[in-house]
Amino acid sequence: MSQVAVDFEKGAAAPSPYVPKMARLLEAEQMTETERFFRVALEGEPLRYEPGQFVSCMVFGIGESPISICSSPTQGDAFELTVRSVGMVTNALKKFGKGDRLGIRGPFGNHFDYSAMKGQDVLFVAGGLGLAPTRSLIRYVLDNRQDYGKVTILFGAREPKWLLFRQEVEEWTKRKDIDTRVTVDRGDASWKGNVGVITRLFRQIEVDPTRTYAVIVGPPIMFKFTVLEALAEGIPEHRIICSLERHMKCGVGKCGHCQIRGIYVCREGPVFTYEQVKKLREGI
Ligand SMILES: Cc1cc2nc3c(=O)[nH]c(=O)nc-3n(C[C@H](O)[C@H](O)[C@H](O)COP(=O)(O)OP(=O)(O)OC[C@H]3O[C@@H](n4cnc5c(N)ncnc54)[C@H](O)[C@@H]3O)c2cc1C
Ligand code: FES
Repeated sequence: MSQVAVDFEKGAAAPSPYVPKMARLLEAEQMTETERFFRVALEGEPLRYEPGQFVSCMVFGIGESPISICSSPTQGDAFELTVRSVGMVTNALKKFGKGDRLGIRGPFGNHFDYSAMKGQDVLFVAGGLGLAPTRSLIRYVLDNRQDYGKVTILFGAREPKWLLFRQEVEEWTKRKDIDTRVTVDRGDASWKGNVGVITRLFRQIEVDPTRTYAVIVGPPIMFKFTVLEALAEGIPEHRIICSLERHMKCGVGKCGHCQIRGIYVCREGPVFTYEQVKKLREGI
């Protein structure tokens, strides 16, 4: 495959979205038994991205996988990823350490509309690995804290050992300018916090539905019941925001792998409002 593709409309050579750029791992850390954190820098120009976008990570000789960027562009030139090992590519990445190189395509997809949320309250609800894409927007909002109203973060995991970004989340819980609450489905001997499903945390908070955006990302069962809670609070469907995962290949709206009812999730998503998701779901 050639390194550049010709953009015939402009008559100039444009970089091909199919050709990965080389990147180097600045940091690699095992967060849980299955999730690994990476801080990555492209060799050459830094990656320009928006909160909510994803990249395709290529392990040469094995394959590539779409992974959400879990950092915010406000954090500098490097970007961060959280990878759960489930199969070929992600298990290969589990062995990657500081200094190792991989291929990166992207960034791909749309992004969280942080401009529309300005001056409004933002309620983040993240389950398990859902904290990865959510964190990109959380970090953005915290780095522009004065632009947003009340910020509430609800985070849940199956057990304490599966909590991601534990230290960072603990720091959020200590901040007076945000309200962070964490729960686990099942506690252990060391756990002193909330026990129960994430929807129970709604009983501990107050929501003004006229000025709240709810950003809900997590496994399907969590998403379903959390959306019901958000709707019960009176938050309108177009202010309930989520990030969808589908099987993807190209990431640029060409191969059709991610398509639902004519919508290419890789290009028109992965961020959708619940209003949009409801229509898409009829096609799943
Ligand atoms: C937009 C987007 C963002 C994502 N963000 C993250 C992230 O931040 N961190 C992370 O760990 N994972 C993320 N994923 C899921 C990740 O892409 C898959 O887990 C990965 O591609 C699996 O590749 P593999 O080669 O390791 O597994 P394979 O050997 O290909 O498959 C192993 C298992 O994973 C399932 N699987 C494969 N691809 C997907 C997929 N796209 N979605 C769900 N299940 C899949 C397969 O059905 C199979 O059961 C994201 C997916 C998308 C589409
Ligand atoms: S992944 Fe190819 S069209 Fe979306």
